[in-house]
Amino acid sequence: MVKTSDIEKAADVLRAGGLVALPTETVYGLGANAEDPAAIARIFQVKGRPPSHPLIVHIAGAEHLDDWVQDVPQAARVLAEHYWPGPLTLVLRRGPRVPLEATGGLQTVAVRVPDHPAALALLEAFGGGVTAPSANRFGQVSPTTANDVRAELGDGVDFVLDGGRCLVGVESTIVDVTSDAPSILRPGGVTREELEAVLGFPLAVPSTSHVRVPGQHPSHYAPRARVVLVEPEKVIAEAELAQELGHQVGAFVPASFAGAPVTAHAVLTVPASMSAYARELYGFLRKFDQLGCDLIIASLPKEEGLGLAIANRLLRAAGPRSTV
Ligand code: TXA
Ligand code: MG
Repeated sequence: MVKTSDIEKAADVLRAGGLVALPTETVYGLGANAEDPAAIARIFQVKGRPPSHPLIVHIAGAEHLDDWVQDVPQAARVLAEHYWPGPLTLVLRRGPRVPLEATGGLQTVAVRVPDHPAALALLEAFGGGVTAPSANRFGQVSPTTANDVRAELGDGVDFVLDGGRCLVGVESTIVDVTSDAPSILRPGGVTREELEAVLGFPLAVPSTSHVRVPGQHPSHYAPRARVVLVEPEKVIAEAELAQELGHQVGAFVPASFAGAPVTAHAVLTVPASMSAYARELYGFLRKFDQLGCDLIIASLPKEEGLGLAIANRLLRAAGPRSTV
């Protein structure tokens, strides 16, 4: 349980233009007053993120949606009703209250209601919207505990609201509802199948979440160690070979091979359930870094249910690293 005094302190920091790391059900966010361009500028500076990248505005409940956006289509109302609070972000037309600094200059804005008691208590106490990207340095692994946030951002954040471990573990699903054919921009905590069942029609999913060629994904959600993806039945052999060649290998052993002996620097077994896998994914990637691995050998889960979001994050983690 988060103390009321901590909620009040966090709300005061937001009012004073400061940055608060807040827990959500997906990952920790780096929050600022959504109506304070100077505070928003600090988010980009602390994250090292280009200011053209738009942020998500977090609100306390679906009843506040119309304060922030315009022209809400029926599909958006249906999804908000069904999944908020929850790991679903809706992209809608920006209302005048949202500064362009929060949207990277776009006329659309991403909005969600997080399903975490401390986040909701903070949003209620603060009374406004909170823009919050994931509380990691740009391109790195998202934090799922308060300690991860401190390790990522240190003094860059004015207050860390510790709400325990994030229960979903991967970011929200982002659905663009600004066109007549809503589409998934980022797979996440609510599955495509669930959304389609509620809407009653199929959603377009970008090829980036499907394409199996890692080279096509610029690196993101990435640990320090290089990530190499292989077929599930090759993980152990490839890990042992790379270890023999002098790498400090972190082997991400598929659940179906649990218990098999592996000669590697560090071995973690992927949980069999996709929800457990999503919850552990970022913690595992961090663990391999902490243990000093320079190479992680992993495989992709089936791209169905939460497996779609997990596969998307692993593909991005395995993408080519920027050299700048
Ligand atoms: O689960 C989550 O969504 C977490 C927690 C903290 O809420 N937040 C999160 O934020 O993942 P961030 O900034 O790391 O990712 C937000 C994504 C970015 O990829 C951004 O491009 C996209 O949302 N986005 C934001 N506004 C958008 C818009 N108007 N149109 C299209 N994409 C947008
Ligand atoms: Mg992020």
